[in-house]
Amino acid sequence: MSAIIGIHDVVVDDLYSQAKEKAANKGFYSSRWAPLMRRGRQLLAAAKVKLVLGLFILCVTVFMTSRISSFMGWIPDEPSAVFSPAKGGYAVLINSWKGNSLLTQSVAHYASCAGTDAIHVAWSQTDPPSENLKAYLKRVVFSKSQTALKPSFKFDINKENYLNYRFKPIDDLRTDAIFSVDDDVIVPCSFLDFAFSVWQSAPSTMVGFVPRMHWLDGQKNGVPYHKYGGWWSVWWMGAYSMVLSKAAFFHKKYLDLYTHMMPPSIQDYVARERNCEDIAMSLLIANATGAPPIWVKGKIHEIASSGISSLKGHSDRRNKCLNDIISLYGTVPLVSSNVKAVDARQEWFW
Ligand SMILES: *[C@@H]1O[C@H](CO)[C@@H](O)[C@H](O)[C@H]1NC(C)=O
Repeated sequence: MSAIIGIHDVVVDDLYSQAKEKAANKGFYSSRWAPLMRRGRQLLAAAKVKLVLGLFILCVTVFMTSRISSFMGWIPDEPSAVFSPAKGGYAVLINSWKGNSLLTQSVAHYASCAGTDAIHVAWSQTDPPSENLKAYLKRVVFSKSQTALKPSFKFDINKENYLNYRFKPIDDLRTDAIFSVDDDVIVPCSFLDFAFSVWQSAPSTMVGFVPRMHWLDGQKNGVPYHKYGGWWSVWWMGAYSMVLSKAAFFHKKYLDLYTHMMPPSIQDYVARERNCEDIAMSLLIANATGAPPIWVKGKIHEIASSGISSLKGHSDRRNKCLNDIISLYGTVPLVSSNVKAVDARQEWFW
């Protein structure tokens, strides 16, 4: 590029001095200067072509490098252009159960996202969090936040380990959107902001990063038997009917519905099994909307080495939960979908 700009500068200088000289020697020396002017014009024409070509190459290079670098994940956390604080934000609801170091990491991360208006930690353990931890996390939130208005931070403390408390209604929320997340799941801010913009276009729908599928698989004891499918099933079928609350947006009204309107038998079931509150939430929202959730493409990082999904017997348990909760509803409220929301800025094949 510098070479091309160089040529251009030389030509411009050339022309400028030629014009000066032409003015100075008007008429008299014109025949002497004619070949030089012709040469100048030729140079200018050549430079124009090179300039246009150079600009074109530059544009292509800039375009390719930006696409490749984001494609390869080299720009993880650049602020999203879709998000603007004027449109409101979301409350991050972290379910804490894997210990303070993971909690500190995820609080620090979500505090740094521009759309985070509040961070609530659902703490359902017999021992309350220490004053030290509370004070420390408050400072972490304050120092990591990049916005003028710092997110509020609060522990929602429950004395017992009752899984349904994860979805207990929160009183003092300024926003409608809840981002529900496990304490070991990190979603980069750019994906979070994008998913939030998807949620804003469908605020009664659950919008998340972890899709799951169900399908009818014959009968067991005379009743329809459903199977619960994980990542591979979703990939194979290209369809899903749930997104898990370990990384999903939903409207805060569903916390009320879950706690006060969902049949107590389902809450009892979740408490007894110590599992499947996420399936219960998916069914609740599907029943309320009659519509499928929305799966958003995005990277998520699970920072704990092993989740419950890696334990043996997990899929049997999830199958059982799904069928038991469906039987408590009496119908299958889940609706499947093939839609995957992607960020148009990240897609370069149309
Ligand atoms: C499912 O939705 C219907 C219609 O909105 C409602 O009447 C019913 O109570 C809901 N069922 C449950 C279990 O929430």
